[in-house]
Amino acid sequence: MKKTFGMLIAVALTAVIFVGKAQAQTVIPEDVKALLQKNICLACHNPDTRLVGPPYKEVAKKKYTDAQIVELIYEPKPEHWPGYPPMAALKNVPKDEALKIAAWINSLDGGSKKAPAKKPATKKKA
Ligand code: HEC
Repeated sequence: MKKTFGMLIAVALTAVIFVGKAQAQTVIPEDVKALLQKNICLACHNPDTRLVGPPYKEVAKKKYTDAQIVELIYEPKPEHWPGYPPMAALKNVPKDEALKIAAWINSLDGGSKKAPAKKPATKKKA
């Protein structure tokens, strides 16, 4: 019985490691993680996968400037993310913290250098 249990754990661990490798999970630096937790971003966002909001890796592909991301935290534009519920405006996030988070989000785009991400779908209809 004990042996079976041990085997199960081994199998489970292997599966976790395998899945982890396949998805190349982003490790959030501790200082950024603290800010994301404090400002409850992680309740809705994961760096790699869709939760309530889009994965930060996808946000990084939109090629915003850090300042633009800060603005979007204070004043989200749900039209950027069809199929998602609108994000609540988080105006109480201190600007320096928002900037630090923004810079980190933009750093997540490292993997897609070869294929320049398409510009956000801001169709010029002026
Ligand atoms: C209650 C859930 C929720 C929380 C909390 C939340 N977000 Fe969001 N976020 C969303 C959703 C949903 C979207 C997509 C729709 C939208 O942009 O309104 C989004 C979109 C975004 C975008 C993309 C903006 C764009 O227009 O491309 C950024 C950047 C972002 N969130 C950052 C943050 C940060 C940083 C925090 C913490 C300070 C945070 N979010 C907290 C749900 C959330």
